[in-house]
Amino acid sequence: MFETDRFIDDCRQGLGGPNPHGAVREIVAKAVSEPGQVLKSLGEPKLSGIQTLFCSETLTVLNVLWGPGMTLYPHDHRMWAVIGIYGGREDNAFYRRSAEGLTASGAKTLDLKATLPLGEAAIHSVTNPLDKITAGIHVYGGDFFATPRSEWDPDTLEERAFDIQHAREIFAEANKRLPPSRPAP
Ligand SMILES: [Fe+2]
Repeated sequence: MFETDRFIDDCRQGLGGPNPHGAVREIVAKAVSEPGQVLKSLGEPKLSGIQTLFCSETLTVLNVLWGPGMTLYPHDHRMWAVIGIYGGREDNAFYRRSAEGLTASGAKTLDLKATLPLGEAAIHSVTNPLDKITAGIHVYGGDFFATPRSEWDPDTLEERAFDIQHAREIFAEANKRLPPSRPAP
């Protein structure tokens, strides 16, 4: 059974061990192995967006809800991360820095229950290939919002400072593609 507070406590405890990234990976994998339980606790996603479940200097836990068909441009985190999928599917494209700016370096589809650890140097873009919301728990080994990092223009691959407001606009745009909510019966 998944409980948000318990999950956050487990992650915080994992930070104190010898391998925080590995410990959090196991905690996330266990959580999304029962996606129905996570869904029950966090609620059926109705809108795309980034919900902060916990944030400190050493740990951020997000509930990330990708809108239908949306893509978030390449960006880095500059801290380790773990993604776990409890609804839908997420297509990740990976990049590395190069003389040209950024070079594609692979891709990975995360299906329901999949867990993906990302290293501190990871650069990725994320697409929700589905016409419904994809839901994931994202855990970061630092303050996701306060750490300066980069995003890349999806067309020119030009590097610029990551702007959380810009990201939130992409999520808001995706909400326009959701079917209008039906009135409660
Ligand atoms: Fe990311």
